[in-house]
Amino acid sequence: MSDKPKTGYSTRAVHAGEIRYNEYGSITTPIVQTSTFIFRNVEDIRKLVTGDVERFEYGRYGHPTQLAAERKLAALEEAEDAVLFSSGMSAITTSLLFLLKAGDHMIITDDAYKRTLDFCKSYLGRYDIECTVVKMCDYEALEKAIKPNTRVFFSESPTNPYLNIMDLERLMGIFKNRGILVISDSTFATPYNQQPLKYGVDLVIHSATKYLAGHNDILSGVLLGAKKLTDPIREFLKITGGVIDPNSSYLLIRGLKTFALRMERLNQSAQEVAEHLEKLPGIKRVYYPGLPSHPHHEVARQQMRGYGSVVTFEVKDDVEYALAFLSNLEILNIGPSLGGVESLITHPATISYYMHTKEERTALGIKDGLIRLAVGLEDTADIIDDIDRALEKAGKI
Ligand SMILES: Cc1ncc(COP(=O)(O)O)c(C=O)c1O
Repeated sequence: MSDKPKTGYSTRAVHAGEIRYNEYGSITTPIVQTSTFIFRNVEDIRKLVTGDVERFEYGRYGHPTQLAAERKLAALEEAEDAVLFSSGMSAITTSLLFLLKAGDHMIITDDAYKRTLDFCKSYLGRYDIECTVVKMCDYEALEKAIKPNTRVFFSESPTNPYLNIMDLERLMGIFKNRGILVISDSTFATPYNQQPLKYGVDLVIHSATKYLAGHNDILSGVLLGAKKLTDPIREFLKITGGVIDPNSSYLLIRGLKTFALRMERLNQSAQEVAEHLEKLPGIKRVYYPGLPSHPHHEVARQQMRGYGSVVTFEVKDDVEYALAFLSNLEILNIGPSLGGVESLITHPATISYYMHTKEERTALGIKDGLIRLAVGLEDTADIIDDIDRALEKAGKI
């Protein structure tokens, strides 16, 4: 295994976590496709039970391909431990259900991922867990929301769709010595662009479905942090069961091999696309932390290496126009998600908030002309041409 933290980021992405000379001498980590691990004799069982050997027993309790992927992710986030789950939501719900109990209170920021907010606001109450939602980046409101029974603070950075950035230094100043666990969903940042653990954040979560796996082909989630925090959650996961399978673990390992390379290119390409969009007369506003016009650009510049692939922008405030623009695209695919090799573009007002009225959408800050683009690995010039062509055609409706 080569998970020496001193090696460069790309070297770790390629090698960390994997056994250098595995049983078969294969350069790739084998997909150990099994649900159970057998014992040669009862002595083997005894050794497992007494803890004399560490070995695998049953797929839900962990398997070799998962372990290699976890070690690689830990090396990339520079975390002591990583625990993989079947999806980002499984990582979030399992962790929160373990960390909170009846009578506890948690705080979450208002532009966290919609389903995370749903879970905290609509479901945790069933277990007598109270949740306060505070405005993202309103640090005074956040401090005021803290109660004697607050156990967890959960936030994201950057957020969806406006890419708001949490000032991690300021945030951790608020939570210092308060005994409240701070969890950061860092999916939009990735461990390449931002490492919240270095600021004192207790636990980091990623939807590994996105940039980490990187190919729009699997679902997975990961929790990272100190072993004393992750170990009990790993035990709880053995009961709740949202585990990652061997094939997805392998695809995650394979995706991670090019992670640094992909991030470098995505950061650069999205920056170019954002700068181009900002110059177009038909675009009302562009939200990208790499642009000086973004309200949190300075914080982002200080705590991030790059700004990721998501660029949000506003076209004419009209659903028909926005949909005509999407329909005219020939290269970019219409769909949710981000961080993969294919560019994905979505119209939040119709795709993510289709069940809301215009008034509700407006209250949530989702305008009818809002577009979220997750830049992929196509040539930047082709992405820009596709957008320009589609905007021009939409202008003729
Ligand atoms: C920021 C963020 N967190 C968590 C999730 C959930 O991840 P998954 O879809 O892998 O369950 C998503 C999904 O879009 C997300 O964008």
